[in-house]
Amino acid sequence: MKSSLPKVLVTRRIPEAGLALIREKCDLEIYEEDRVIPRQLLLEKIPPVQGLLCLLSEKIDEELLHKAPHLKVVSNFAVGYDNIDIAAATRRGVVVTNTPGVLTEATADMAWALLLAAARRLGEGDHIMRHGQFEGWGPMFLLGQDIKGKTLGILGAGRIGSAVVERSAGWEMPILYYDHNRNDVLEAKFSARKVTLEKLASSADFISIHLPASPDTHHLIDEKILKQMKKTAVLINTARGAIIDEKALVQALREKWIAAAGLDVFEKEPQLAEGLDQLENVVLAPHLGSATIQARDGMATLAATNLLAVLAGKRPAHVVNPDVLIR
Ligand code: DGY
Repeated sequence: MKSSLPKVLVTRRIPEAGLALIREKCDLEIYEEDRVIPRQLLLEKIPPVQGLLCLLSEKIDEELLHKAPHLKVVSNFAVGYDNIDIAAATRRGVVVTNTPGVLTEATADMAWALLLAAARRLGEGDHIMRHGQFEGWGPMFLLGQDIKGKTLGILGAGRIGSAVVERSAGWEMPILYYDHNRNDVLEAKFSARKVTLEKLASSADFISIHLPASPDTHHLIDEKILKQMKKTAVLINTARGAIIDEKALVQALREKWIAAAGLDVFEKEPQLAEGLDQLENVVLAPHLGSATIQARDGMATLAATNLLAVLAGKRPAHVVNPDVLIR
C-alpha cells in the first residue's frame, strides 16, 4: 500500500539519533551501502522524494533538481554546502538546510591536532617508528617549531575560526584574522587584529583556514600568497580543499617556501594532488574534522530536525536560502 507519509531519502547511513526522528514521521529510505551513493542511482531514486538528507559527497545540481518535482527540502549533513547549487534550489522553491554549531568544537580540535602534528613533525616520527628507522634520540633529529608566543593567523573568523582562537589561550599567541566582517569578540578578548590576506600571510607563524568554499575563496591561497608566507610557517586547512591551490602548495612544501602543512580536506576529494603524499612535511587526514561520536550525533539530529521542520511547513533552525521561505 502506498504510504501517506512524506517520502524521505537518506543517501548514506548516519547516526540513529537522526534516523529515528525521521522514521517516526516519514516513509524513510536509506542507501545502505557504506559508500557514496552512485550518481545514477540517486537520479533514479529522486523523482518521488519530498525530503532529501544528503552528504557533501552528493552533487545537488540542476540535473538532479529537475528530476525531483516533489522535493521540498535538501538537508545537508554538513555545515558547508558547496556541493549544492543554491541558486538552482532557490529558483525551484527547494529549501536548503545545513548543520552549523554542532561540529564547531570537533573541527577546531582537529585544526589544533593538525597544527601540533605538523609543527612537531609527528607524521614523520610515526612513519619512522613504524618502519624500524628509529636509531635513538638525536640532538638534531626531527626538529620542529615552538608554538608559544608565535602569531596565529585565522582565515575566516566565524564559529570555527573563533573556537580555534579560543584554544590558543594557553600558547599566548598574538592573533591576526582575515574576514570580511569584524569580529568584536575576538578583538576584545584576544586583541585580535583584522588584517589583509597579504599582511596575514607575511606575518603569521601558523595559518588556519576556516572560510567557506565559494568562487571568492577558490584558490585564495595561491602561489603568490604561499611565497609571501614565512619559511617557518605552518598552514592548516580543515575547511575546503579548493581554497588552496594544491599544485602550488605541493611546490611550496617541496621547495620549502613554507615549513609544513596539515590538511584534512582536499580539492578533488578523495583524490590527492599529485606529489602530495610523497612529501614528508605535510600531515594528511582523511576529512575527519567533524568525526567525533558527539558531533556526528549532533549533525544527524540537526539535519533530521531541519528536514522535518520544512516537511511540516515550519521554519528550520538553519536555512541556507531563506528567500524561499518568504515567497
Ligand atoms: C562540513 O560539515 O562541512 C564538514 O566538512 C563535514 O563535517
